[in-house]
Amino acid sequence: MTRVAVLRIGHRPERDQRVTTHVGLTARALGAEEMYLAASDPGVVASIADVVDRWGGSFTCTDNVKWRRCITDWKKEGGTVVHLTMYGLNLPDVISEIRIKDPILVVVGAEKVPGDIFGLADYNVAVTGQPHSEISSLALFLDHLFSGQELAAIYPDAKIRIIPSKSGKKTEES
Ligand SMILES: C[S@@+](CC[C@H](N)C(=O)[O-])C[C@H]1O[C@@H](n2cnc3c(N)ncnc32)[C@H](O)[C@@H]1O
Repeated sequence: MTRVAVLRIGHRPERDQRVTTHVGLTARALGAEEMYLAASDPGVVASIADVVDRWGGSFTCTDNVKWRRCITDWKKEGGTVVHLTMYGLNLPDVISEIRIKDPILVVVGAEKVPGDIFGLADYNVAVTGQPHSEISSLALFLDHLFSGQELAAIYPDAKIRIIPSKSGKKTEES
């Protein structure tokens, strides 16, 4: 699968901890390999590490990242940068072009993103032209990128896994 990292910008530790943690968990669950956080927040890093420890895989979250440096380094190394924004080109119109790129850095904001991001990104992609959230836009983008294959991922080193069931909660611990 394509290597995907997520860059989370605009995080405000006093109010965005829950959303940013969910950006990371969504990235992990839907096939990304890492998240870069353009702010200092050891609490978010620890929450995500705890999920990885119990539920498996090798997803990493790094805080204190300088967003501009992260984007320019990614491009210097031959990677593609996709900025999710409702002002961009609509997902269905660009996803087949993006699907052949590897690796991909997906940038999501919190509040208003710095204007420079639009020029630095290789693609500004809208998941509809309607305002919603970084979590929903990331989830839909990853699902379209991986064509749904990420839904069948297996985590061999998981300490806990769910046994899918029609009703009730069944888990297995190792
Ligand atoms: C709560 S929104 C804030 C949007 C803000 N009003 C702006 O002008 O950038 C936070 C993030 O969600 C993502 N987002 C929200 N709606 C989107 C959409 N329709 N398509 C793609 N990304 C979206 C973008 O990454 C955005 O930076």
